[in-house]
Amino acid sequence: MTVELTLPPFDMPVELSDVDLYDPQTYVLADQHPTWRTMRAKAPVWWQERADATGFWCVTRHADCEKVVKDYRTFSSQEGTILASVGVGDTAGGQTITLTDPPEHAAIRVPSMRALGHAVVQERTPFIRARVTELVEPCDDGEVDFARLMRRLPMVLAGEFMGIPPEHWDDIALWAAACVAPDDPAYALGANPAQTLRLAHHQLFAVFRDLVRHRRAHPGKDLISVLIEITDAMSGRDKPLGEWQVLLNCYSFILGANTTTPNVASHTLLALTQRPELWPRLRDDRGAVEGLVEEGVRWSSPTHHLVRRATADVELGGATIRAGDWVSAWVASANRDEAVFDDPYTFDIDRRPNRHLGFGGGPHYCIGAPMSRLALTLLFEELVRRYAGFELTGPPTHLRSNWINGLVSLPVRQVGRNAPC
Ligand code: HEM
Repeated sequence: MTVELTLPPFDMPVELSDVDLYDPQTYVLADQHPTWRTMRAKAPVWWQERADATGFWCVTRHADCEKVVKDYRTFSSQEGTILASVGVGDTAGGQTITLTDPPEHAAIRVPSMRALGHAVVQERTPFIRARVTELVEPCDDGEVDFARLMRRLPMVLAGEFMGIPPEHWDDIALWAAACVAPDDPAYALGANPAQTLRLAHHQLFAVFRDLVRHRRAHPGKDLISVLIEITDAMSGRDKPLGEWQVLLNCYSFILGANTTTPNVASHTLLALTQRPELWPRLRDDRGAVEGLVEEGVRWSSPTHHLVRRATADVELGGATIRAGDWVSAWVASANRDEAVFDDPYTFDIDRRPNRHLGFGGGPHYCIGAPMSRLALTLLFEELVRRYAGFELTGPPTHLRSNWINGLVSLPVRQVGRNAPC
């Protein structure tokens, strides 16, 4: 039974002519690490041809991926940041925090930091701790689907920071998942993927429209109020941030939170079910939990890739990329690069430094990193405080997506309650 799609079988040969990093089904069936390892060694900047569709460059080494995400002048986010945008662009291009380049990007990012920065995160820690404790309570009762339980984790964060009432959290988490993988049967809302995507977008935007109207009438310190303030401050300039743009940015934040945090939690617990010897140490040492979270982000690399579009001709990893070409930086591969990480296929909670690119890099470095680090730390502190460990009760199911390294289902059971400490 293949349970962990984070380790390559070391003897598995891969022919470059067989590689297809686009096909979402590939990611359900097998681990892509043998492919990425071959590409780093033989073709670190490789052109993926696609029949009847635009091809794209695949960048797999850490140093090259870092260059792509940091050098925003040469590699623009403006037209799309995921493979689905290759050749067609993103209709929200130039309008959201994710899909703008500096200096326009700073106009959205800098004020948004006010609602999400370290100081605010610290102030909200007691509230987040209480919510995280509630979240794991169902584990008391025996078998749970941990991946399903974790869908709520990002809503504890985004819900709190965006001022979204808890009655919307479960729906929003489901719609966000359907937007990421509309062709995964677990999230089918309509008769086909296109209908699922339309429905999920429609529902999400309807909820946000109401929340934005409410915040206009009752401004607070939350992120939606900040996004509205940005709109007003920019009015009168040549490109005002209108209500539609506020909605698009709400969507960016919700997707940023929901596509990643639950999957780090689930992949990390999965790794621990296979390394039960780590559990007692985690219980006794808070520093070890922080190391666990950082290694969990590297290990799971929830965003497989980040896409950019070249604005000029550039040499990278021995290849010539032309202006206008689409470039995908495979963060998941960079995070196993032997040139940067000792024993990259070992899950090592003592790895320091841990120079993973799981949160990206450069101007678009994840704005939710401080709060997701906090929530994941609180989550694992609570799990190790409460239980003696976890075991799998069935095979995990992987998400059908070339973008997100997701677990749709992770059936587990706690192996005993700890005495209170
Ligand atoms: C462990 C959890 C998380 C991981 C691994 C993660 C990963 C990432 C990555 C790789 C990027 C870079 C995207 C790019 O360069 O195109 C990013 C950006 C972003 N993330 Fe996260 N993220 C996490 C949690 C969150 C949370 C909780 C939020 C909610 C506030 C969030 C919101 C965003 C936003 C809005 C951006 C765009 C920032 C910008 O363009 O300046 N993320 N994230």
